[in-house]
Amino acid sequence: MTAQLNPRGDVAVLVPAAGAGVRLGPGRPKALRLLAGEPLLVHAVRRLAAAPSVHTIVVAAPAAEVAAVRDLLAPVAPVTVVPGGAERQASVAAALAAVPAGPEIVLVHDAARALTPPEVVESVAATVRAGHDAVIPVLPVVDTIKEVDAGEVVLGTVDRATLRVVQTPQGFRRAVLSAAHAAAADALTDDAGLVEKQGVAVRCVPGSEYALKITRPFDLALAEHLLAGGS
Ligand code: C5P
Repeated sequence: MTAQLNPRGDVAVLVPAAGAGVRLGPGRPKALRLLAGEPLLVHAVRRLAAAPSVHTIVVAAPAAEVAAVRDLLAPVAPVTVVPGGAERQASVAAALAAVPAGPEIVLVHDAARALTPPEVVESVAATVRAGHDAVIPVLPVVDTIKEVDAGEVVLGTVDRATLRVVQTPQGFRRAVLSAAHAAAADALTDDAGLVEKQGVAVRCVPGSEYALKITRPFDLALAEHLLAGGS
């Protein structure tokens, strides 16, 4: 029996949370690192569960931590926990395989984006519901971007007006995501990349500064500061 949140919701959210978090320095798997006294995964799942469209959440946890993650999340929200894989894409595929019949919209959300507001979840889901097969939240690029060669010499300046920084949750019509994963040949860093390879148009919607990916120690300090400010 798969755990359910809102039975009238039409969205399943897959949460890849099986990464080691090497860039954060030595310690527990990244999703279990503490932010303001609670694991990143708890913060992420609490915000997902607050989005009214969400019917089901499936977390892909480090294989050795599945039971611990189940216990950790039981008081937060009804979630299904499965063992993740060696790469992010394998973790997403494992979570996708555990989605029950029902939800026709599937979102994929990195546990590392622990402060993503429920409004972004709703906006991505609504845009899929409105007829887009694939939807990603994005921010404009604020820095000047240069392309460099192997010797760190600049080859040229990229027009940042045409670039976007991509966040999660990324949303898909369920059949589109399933087909893209079934056809996946190379490991990519996001799911929209897989559906792009299938020739599917990917629509951008505004993301949120709060959806930052907590990757390095500075990001963790920034997230602590944002939380202390009452986000
Ligand atoms: O480190 P990376 O950018 O790949 O992590 C993005 C997300 O994918 C994180 O939430 C991480 O826990 C997850 N991941 C995973 N399984 C892996 C590697 C990363 O679920 N094998």
